[in-house]
Amino acid sequence: MPTTATQATQSNPAPTADPNWWRQASVYQIYPRSFADSNGDGIGDINGITAKVPYLKNLGIDAVWLSPFYPSALADGGYDVDDYRNVDPLLGTLEDFDAMANALHAAGLKLIVDIVPNHSSDRHQLFREALASPRGSAARNRYIFRDGLGEEGELPPSDWDSVFGGPAWERITEPDGSPGQWYMHIFAKEQPDFNWDNPEVREDFLKTLRFWSDRGVDGFRIDVAHALTKNLEETLPTKADLEAQGEALYLTGQHPYWDRDEVHEIYAEWRRVFNEYNPPRTAVAEAWVHTDRRARYASPEGLGQAFNFDLLQADFDAAQFRKTIIKNLAEAKASGASSTWVFSNHDVVRHATRYGLPASEPSAGGDIMAGQAGKRWLLAGGRQEDVDAELGLRRARAASLLMFALPGSAYLYQGEELGLQEVGNEIPDSARQDPAFFRNKGVEIGRDGCRVPLPWTSAGSSFGFGPGGSHLPQPEWFAGSSVEAQEGQGDSTLSLYRRALALRSQLQTTEALELLETGRDDVLAFRRPNGWTSITNFGTEPFELPAGQLLVSSSPLEAGRLPGAATAWLR
Ligand code: GLC
Ligand code: CA
Repeated sequence: MPTTATQATQSNPAPTADPNWWRQASVYQIYPRSFADSNGDGIGDINGITAKVPYLKNLGIDAVWLSPFYPSALADGGYDVDDYRNVDPLLGTLEDFDAMANALHAAGLKLIVDIVPNHSSDRHQLFREALASPRGSAARNRYIFRDGLGEEGELPPSDWDSVFGGPAWERITEPDGSPGQWYMHIFAKEQPDFNWDNPEVREDFLKTLRFWSDRGVDGFRIDVAHALTKNLEETLPTKADLEAQGEALYLTGQHPYWDRDEVHEIYAEWRRVFNEYNPPRTAVAEAWVHTDRRARYASPEGLGQAFNFDLLQADFDAAQFRKTIIKNLAEAKASGASSTWVFSNHDVVRHATRYGLPASEPSAGGDIMAGQAGKRWLLAGGRQEDVDAELGLRRARAASLLMFALPGSAYLYQGEELGLQEVGNEIPDSARQDPAFFRNKGVEIGRDGCRVPLPWTSAGSSFGFGPGGSHLPQPEWFAGSSVEAQEGQGDSTLSLYRRALALRSQLQTTEALELLETGRDDVLAFRRPNGWTSITNFGTEPFELPAGQLLVSSSPLEAGRLPGAATAWLR
């Protein structure tokens, strides 16, 4: 849709003013450094994304979510932000960003950007000021500094671990050269946690939200939304104290740093800012919290939507899917949000690989490297020969087609539309980038395997990622999964995604779903208000389909029957 002159006061205006556009949107996550490289330096960039807008449009998505593109030393793939209101010079400029936003909007696509409020990078201006300023100063009070324990303050303030392994505290050297205080970092040591009790920190983030909203950004994905507020009273509990309270502690809202009740005061303030815009800016929380506490993040007075990682953590199993779907739809209804669905993102083993690994115990949740089978595979060194890639892909296609039939928003991760497998131990240690690998050396190989630059062509430099190399090595088998190899192939995963996403727009009516009796425990079927049904066979025995016209299926029918590990839509 054309942008009109009346909207010109705001740069990069969004194409429609429908305030509910997000409720059943198909959102495509781009990991910018690995999507498309326009200038051959081996790093994906903003102009690379702009050049692929026709591809995105043609895929049939509604919105694009960009993982961080801000200036960063990449201690954590860009989730260590040096400056929240700028573009990494390696990726482009603010003008390039505007051109990209305009191109997306002109194609009718919305733009969501990632906000990383729990921590900045250690190169952020505010953190440098904190280091250069004395103990107890206003500058230090923007982060979480404490004196150490022990006679000389040589021990960390608590024995807590960081998510990526190793201690959650790092000692600094004071400006006068003496050994100094410790600062808290839930993630890597290059990611110091902000002090969200400090009104200056709050103000600064409101400024950032307005900065991008004024540039026409339509929504935000909020990184580790459940960690911002902390209770760091005089004596900190030990790891053992916390563990002794078990799972129950997570339900109280009183854990010292995860999912505290008062974090929602922050989001209520953000919501007032979002609502200053027309249409209101949207937000989705990345909050790895107990399912029962997720609705708080998704409330209309808060962020409005929250990721549900339950399907991502489930096995390819009808009972687990059924339970998860019912629970999450009920929960979304109660909170006023729509549900979210996701199988893959930049933090987890790609679902085409997870589903090709031996089935696992249901996951306990809360783990950033979710998907227990995938995690075990990573821990074991990620050998491609452990994966039944064919079965994994077949199931992944079935699961994705099921997801596209569900009410709510579907979040896709770049490359899943190509059926890409995780790259395992083909990435040599010397090429790895993920801090989870370095901080946990020899124990975890980390998340680089889902961040390998996309193959656009079957041959040529970096498989068409760009005119130069690729910042993470691409395996030879990428050739067969490239966009070029799949274009025009009716049975390719790319064709399936295009067909399903095009049909999905006709399902975006009432957010309702009626489960159907199939007579089989391993077959899950449901009907949407427009009369379409989606049927997934999680088992191995073919399933006799009811009467109806076949709209799409993830694998060909066999003598009119739905084979195992396949989904079909009927009208
Ligand atoms: C989120 C991001 C992950 C990052 C972490 C710390 O979980 O998705 O990639 O490492 O936050 O910012
Ligand atoms: Ca580049």
